[in-house]
Amino acid sequence: MSTIRVVVAGYGNVGRGVLASLENNPDMVLAGIVSRSPERVKKEISNVPVLLMNDIEQWVSELRPDVAILCGGSKNDLPEQTANICRFVNTVDSFDNHSCIPQYFEKVNTAATASGKVSVISTGWDPGVFSMERVLANSFLPGSRAYGFYGLGENGGLSMGHSDALRTIAGVLDARQYTHAIHASIDKVRNGENPAFTPGDMHERVCFVVAAPDADKEKITAEIVNMPGYFAPYKTTVNFVSAEELKEKYSGFPHDGLVVASGITGKGNPAGIEYRCQWGSNPEATANILVAHARAAVRLANEGRKGAFTILDIPPAYFSTLSKEELLKHWM
Ligand SMILES: NC(=O)c1ccc[n+]([C@@H]2O[C@H](COP(=O)([O-])OP(=O)(O)OC[C@H]3O[C@@H](n4cnc5c(N)ncnc54)[C@H](OP(=O)(O)O)[C@@H]3O)[C@@H](O)[C@H]2O)c1
Repeated sequence: MSTIRVVVAGYGNVGRGVLASLENNPDMVLAGIVSRSPERVKKEISNVPVLLMNDIEQWVSELRPDVAILCGGSKNDLPEQTANICRFVNTVDSFDNHSCIPQYFEKVNTAATASGKVSVISTGWDPGVFSMERVLANSFLPGSRAYGFYGLGENGGLSMGHSDALRTIAGVLDARQYTHAIHASIDKVRNGENPAFTPGDMHERVCFVVAAPDADKEKITAEIVNMPGYFAPYKTTVNFVSAEELKEKYSGFPHDGLVVASGITGKGNPAGIEYRCQWGSNPEATANILVAHARAAVRLANEGRKGAFTILDIPPAYFSTLSKEELLKHWM
């Protein structure tokens, strides 16, 4: 397979992670970055072409990408950008608003099928790897439910999608959202109870928000706790902090999570499946997963496939740089 040319579309935390990840994937090369704010990106990056994201036909012709890794935010960016960009080039994205994935899939599938491109959507660690683990657990233990828990440690885990959603609120200058798993609920699953949880039974959300000096904090709080999908279903605590406090106490991007399922085999032997990830850097981990999916997207495209795909539709060997012979010999 020839070297895969990758464009990074959108340059924030995940975009930076993709650049770092490409350094560790010698079968890929960074063809360029496209952004809505190229001047901002050029201040941080040199020796890489940086073009305006909206000029899609121009950057596709100039940079000749095999695939674009879309690193925009899930709340406002990807719902507009993906269906537009996949009209011209294969794409991969990490859209993470779980409840909207069916509609998002339909919209992107329509655009990518019409253009003959491959668009791998909603991948990362969750949705993404955890989605696959949920499906595997449920398939191997029929009748079981697979549950995802996040933020297992004392400080919880930083959710980038929820932090991104907070930063879209008027009057919010910066923000971080830590997810905390409710451990009593994990125990119920491990005990084989297969409980019917509401989202709020499984996690709490703690927000640290830097508000503009003239902002109405009560209004911001109401907007946060009532935000559909992101915060409304959870017990959500909003703490207003200074920019300095946010920087000092809440740095880095740690996150972790667990997929856990309990069921039975045969006539009642208890069985459990667990899969755990721990990330020192959530955006770098997400980026590594996106890059492996970019490889898979190009392979699917080279087979003449088109339309939208999720991790569930892709054979795991397509993610790997290893040959079929190597996989059979060393990894089975
Ligand atoms: N599926 C998963 O497991 C998973 C895990 C983690 C994250 N995610 C998703 O990844 C998305 C992106 O996360 P992120 O942390 O990279 O978001 P982010 O840093 O806020 O970046 C999002 C976009 O905002 C723009 N941007 C970034 N910094 C900016 C700045 N200083 N000034 C102006 N614009 C700026 C960039 O677009 P332009 O370059 O076009 O301006 C960038 O692509 C999240 O919304 C989340 O949904 C998914």
